[in-house]
Amino acid sequence: MENMDKKDYAAYEQQTAALLKWYDENRRILPWREDPQPYHVWLSEIMLQQTRVDTVIDYYHRFLKELPDVKALAEAEEELLLKLWQGLGYYSRIRNMHKASLQVMEDFGGKIPSDPKELQKLSGIGPYAAAAIASIAFGVPVPSVDGNLLRVFARTTGYEDSIRTPAAKKLAESHYRTLLPEDRPGDMNQALMDLGATICLPNGAPLCSHCPWTGFCEAFRSGRQEELPAKDEKKSRKIEKRTIFLIEDGSGTGRPAYGIRKRPAKGLLANLWEFPGARGHLTEKEACGFCEDLGFQVKEISSLPKARHIFSHVEWDMIGYRVRIQTPVPGTDLTFATKEEMEQNYSIPTAFSSYYRLLD
Ligand code: ADE
Repeated sequence: MENMDKKDYAAYEQQTAALLKWYDENRRILPWREDPQPYHVWLSEIMLQQTRVDTVIDYYHRFLKELPDVKALAEAEEELLLKLWQGLGYYSRIRNMHKASLQVMEDFGGKIPSDPKELQKLSGIGPYAAAAIASIAFGVPVPSVDGNLLRVFARTTGYEDSIRTPAAKKLAESHYRTLLPEDRPGDMNQALMDLGATICLPNGAPLCSHCPWTGFCEAFRSGRQEELPAKDEKKSRKIEKRTIFLIEDGSGTGRPAYGIRKRPAKGLLANLWEFPGARGHLTEKEACGFCEDLGFQVKEISSLPKARHIFSHVEWDMIGYRVRIQTPVPGTDLTFATKEEMEQNYSIPTAFSSYYRLLD
């Protein structure tokens, strides 16, 4: 920074040192931190995009056990990938990562690039993930600014406008660039992530009494921790009513089998397996009609509890029916599987978990 005088430099250095000291003493022990190979960091960043750290850890280990390097990922079948991702949601993440692994093999000779611009050429890697991977795995000094870092930025600097704008992101990046130490950029980014996730919390009061940055924080100085960042109007989600069917064939001798089908290749939850469902909340009579249209004669029908699942832009407001049928009619589009077979061979997304849980 050309215009920065010595006093500013010293203050920034102190601020950085205070955070890194706190990080060294309080950082969360996370597997990708202990062994920050590029592939590991990449996988963790993709998993963490929409999923909490606590949930990610088991998935992360299981994934690496099955697919330990980029080459293994590039050669993997889609069905295995979906299985490894089942329950994490936002399946486009793994589809993109698979595509990117093919790019790494074909365009980068099997080596994950270290330059954030090159990283952004890979499918599914945006500016944030590129900066996180470059800094954590390769020590490139670039700030990785996500929602947590924007919140910390707004509070520490007293930024009063919305943080959901490109202008805010630019300012935050520039602010963090001045704080980023050449020798530990990955640790600094992760220290900021930890600060945002464990101390400088989004809803309700942040835990300022545990914060290493109170002496550097404008919101703390002026008592505006709960006012900053500025609140944005919430976008409303579209609510879709749906009726979900557990179509049960109990004609065999063992555990009952349930009808499932593969979702279309495009759109929400593409290519994943689902319990059949219909738009709207069907009455019992309509539900029987629906099953008959699928090619089944209903022996018995009963209502299941309501359930709700929130996607990023849509919310499913679901009711359900358990339907016992005569032996499936040949030619139906449904596949029948027991709960055990589903666990092993079919990826049923979390959106259906309230109904999945009811299988015998
Ligand atoms: N969120 C995204 N990346 C992270 C990381 N490396 N550590 C902790 N939380 C994160």
